[in-house]
Amino acid sequence: MRVLSGIQPTGNLHLGNYLGAIRNWVKMQDEGECYFFLADMHSISEHISAADRLIHVREMAAALVACGIDPDRSVLFNQARVPAHAEMQWLLNGVARMGWLNRMTQWKDKAGKNREGASVALFTYPVLQAADVLLYQATHVPVGEDQKQHLELTRDIAIKFNTDFGVELFTLPAPIIPKETARIMSLRDGAAKMSKSDPSDMSRINLTDDDDTIAQKVRKAKTDPEPLPGDASGLEGRAEAQNLVGIYAALTGTTADAVCAQFAGQGFGAFKPALAEILVEHLRPIRERYVALKDDHAALDAILVKGAEKASATAEPTLRGAYEAMGLMR
Ligand code: TYM
Repeated sequence: MRVLSGIQPTGNLHLGNYLGAIRNWVKMQDEGECYFFLADMHSISEHISAADRLIHVREMAAALVACGIDPDRSVLFNQARVPAHAEMQWLLNGVARMGWLNRMTQWKDKAGKNREGASVALFTYPVLQAADVLLYQATHVPVGEDQKQHLELTRDIAIKFNTDFGVELFTLPAPIIPKETARIMSLRDGAAKMSKSDPSDMSRINLTDDDDTIAQKVRKAKTDPEPLPGDASGLEGRAEAQNLVGIYAALTGTTADAVCAQFAGQGFGAFKPALAEILVEHLRPIRERYVALKDDHAALDAILVKGAEKASATAEPTLRGAYEAMGLMR
């Protein structure tokens, strides 16, 4: 079992990243050989200054270690230090189809009506993501629901490459998407996912938020006037309530049904302080580890350099195989 996943180093790690993906990364360290990376090469698809990018990469590395990614057991690196990603993307650009990329919802959402003004990197973003996964022969890719389409495309690209060149070079990866926390929603709008690009910081819980900020965000989270139902079926059509109950269940290791049974008949006035307390208790140790680590640039850089060396060595045979399959002398 080879596990691989990535995260864009743009801004803070939030509760959606944590419950949708990172918690699974941490667990999967006990189950397989793991590769986790900061997708700094993907981050150039939208403009960020060099100084901000450097800060974000180190901060995200510190956040992952604080969440429990162990750099002695997992290979942790930033994509830019492993040029095989960019090389493989270029090779896969020969196989990926414009029509496939045009159908990607992330492209449609992010480019919006301004397709002409979007970067080429934003359009070919999913091909770099396919390169990330296929280079390592990953079998399992733990992600949130929003990455499912990119992984389906990865499989399509792998199949077309293998078929077009008559090889069995690429392993077809399976997405690992948590059932209950596949899509954590914004605290302000139950129809939008929790996201780092939401302009309102009140919409998300950052893993760096202090206890008071967390409590305040939960207190102000949008809800409805109804009391909590006796079981999860009563949450249908109540997106905000469903989201908060789902977060509570995920953090306490129970089900939405069990949480509803516990709070049945009570309003959000009672539920929210309980949720805030659980969140604060859960996130405090992560935040403390993060604060202790984030300014230790030497230690963080050493982790990323060591990770990149290991990642490059693993990626090399597959990259060589792709050049050979395509008749490219290297
Ligand atoms: P990114 O940086 O947007 O998010 C990192 C991970 O967090 C998950 N996630 C969520 N899960 C549940 N609810 C949410 N509200 C939520 N928001 C984010 C994402 O699904 C993701 O798993 N394209 C990727 C990075 C990437 C990658 C890869 C992932 C690059 N190459 C190869 C896997 C394999 C991205 O932008 O994730």
